[in-house]
Amino acid sequence: ERLLAPAQSLTGRRVAITAGPTREALDPVRFLSNHSSGKMGFALAAAAQRAGADVTLIAGPVSLATPPGVKRVDVIDARQMKEAAERAADLCDLFIGAAAVADFRPVEVAQQKIKKRGGSDTDSLALVKNPDIVAGIAGRRERRPFTVGFAAETEKVEEHARDKLKRKKLDLIIANDVSVPGGGFNSDRNAVTVIGADGATHLPSTLKSELADQLIEIIAARAFAR
Ligand code: CTP
Ligand code: CA
Repeated sequence: ERLLAPAQSLTGRRVAITAGPTREALDPVRFLSNHSSGKMGFALAAAAQRAGADVTLIAGPVSLATPPGVKRVDVIDARQMKEAAERAADLCDLFIGAAAVADFRPVEVAQQKIKKRGGSDTDSLALVKNPDIVAGIAGRRERRPFTVGFAAETEKVEEHARDKLKRKKLDLIIANDVSVPGGGFNSDRNAVTVIGADGATHLPSTLKSELADQLIEIIAARAFAR
């Protein structure tokens, strides 16, 4: 429990956040996805709301309660998430891509359950790349919100994160070492490094709710401080 009320650093600001995994259908009973729980994105939405923002949370399939006062848009796959994110981004001052978007989807979605058929003990799946949601928003020429991404990495964390910051034209990236215990997917705790063009801030392992308050303060200061 916090002893002090959070600073109202986002009062009057509109914030959109993507969270959770996406699911890419293969046939009526199967999909490709990942282990994202959505906890970090939901914690950021709650923290932004506490900081006074009007928050839209674009959520992939997760089993989490909507934070009080937050507007939630549920989506399943990456293309639906992109559509909802673009719509929210048109109206927002700050966009945070916290979702673990599936990088690829099956080229075709079978209308009937795919059978394992006879013969071969091996099979393969044709995949096509999904659109990059956060890069699309950061690359806008008009109606471009301050744009923050995450980088989930298992090695050379800062190097990969700095590369993504540049390549996606983000304002900030939150680098997340998902290889360390208490450092990532599905956990209630996390440790991250916030990286911008002008330097990095390490935030040591703490509860995601506390980390989210710290992140929102850093992001608000970088985005809106005059
Ligand atoms: N992201 C996105 N749309 C995608 C893929 C990723 O918006 N199709 C966003 C994530 O929400 C995150 C950032 O991009 O904010 C980085 O995601 P990550 O998976 O770490 O990076 P990728 O660019 O997908 O690179 P890779 O998975 O190869 O490391
Ligand atoms: Ca990826």
